[in-house]
Amino acid sequence: MAGFTSRWGAPAPASDDGIETSLRVVTKGFAAYQRLFVEGGLAPLLSRPNPLRYDDFDMDLVVKGIETEAEDVVSLTLAAPGGGVLPVWNPGSHLDVFLPSGRQRQYSLCGDPADRHRYRIAVRLIGDGGGGSREVHETLRTGDLLHVRGPRNAFRMVAADSYLFIAGGIGITPILPMVKAANARGIPWRMVYLGRTRENMPFLDELEACTGGDVDVRPDDEFGLPDVGRLLTRLHPGGATYVCGPPPVSDAARRLISAIDPTGSMHTERFSAPPVVGGKPFDVKLARSGVTVSVAADQSMLDAIREQVAGVVYSCQQGYCGSCKIGVLASRVEHRDNRLLESERKASMLICVSRSDGGPLVLDL
Ligand code: FES
Repeated sequence: MAGFTSRWGAPAPASDDGIETSLRVVTKGFAAYQRLFVEGGLAPLLSRPNPLRYDDFDMDLVVKGIETEAEDVVSLTLAAPGGGVLPVWNPGSHLDVFLPSGRQRQYSLCGDPADRHRYRIAVRLIGDGGGGSREVHETLRTGDLLHVRGPRNAFRMVAADSYLFIAGGIGITPILPMVKAANARGIPWRMVYLGRTRENMPFLDELEACTGGDVDVRPDDEFGLPDVGRLLTRLHPGGATYVCGPPPVSDAARRLISAIDPTGSMHTERFSAPPVVGGKPFDVKLARSGVTVSVAADQSMLDAIREQVAGVVYSCQQGYCGSCKIGVLASRVEHRDNRLLESERKASMLICVSRSDGGPLVLDL
């Protein structure tokens, strides 16, 4: 039998009396819990049959200001309508933003985490995108209300002796608060900022004010396309590298880092669903609505369902946040997430990345 040592000290002495007393207390406590939460008249109110999980906050915020930060880039300052304190966030955090049209987008927080009364996000206009950035740029006005969920952090800043930051374009938004944090703590850092031209690279002035490290601004029209392998050699051995930018830059960094510095850590972030690899087509039946949805080989189940059903909850689309967890009523699942516990996988799945492991699937949706 394996031994157990508590985190705070030596193994607890194996006293039979003590164990019996503990068991009696636990048993009594459980019986009381059962009477109140399971059998009592208040049980339906206290213990909901479908537990709701709150990992973060849902709130309406008012747009306090809209600033042009660079060519095709605006920042929005958001605050609570009554001016109250906002939930805490750390460098790397983002918000899910629900635009008035119903579009849902994720934007990194790029303001000051110490300012508990305002959030700042920045949005680049993508002319041929899905319309979210155009909606922000062309229709949002100061005073409008925006529904947001979060903050959430899937791009945490780990403790390190030194940092190399590589930001491409609007990928500066999660990196900027990290640079400021490293700068404020006096930790050695270097940063490479990539973009098309200086004119469309936001927050250059704020980076200039961070004088404790080294910022290399490399717009394509002056330096040509970046050689990511060469940029990575600027990392101090054993340091942490954070990359946020276009997928070719992040993908190259992930591919090359182990050869360049096997002792360092690499952290990248993407805001869109990764491509489906090795998928097969399948059908999914939604038990509550009776709808059957066909999922193509290169399509996520979340996307296929959203085309036919409104209001499906999701966020990261990459299998880490847990928002899209749905009960599975029939069939086997090919789980592709890193979030669910083994015990959860028996009866539920994350529909943004996981798929049917063969036949048709039936979901509790
Ligand atoms: S949307 Fe985040 S896990 Fe599916």
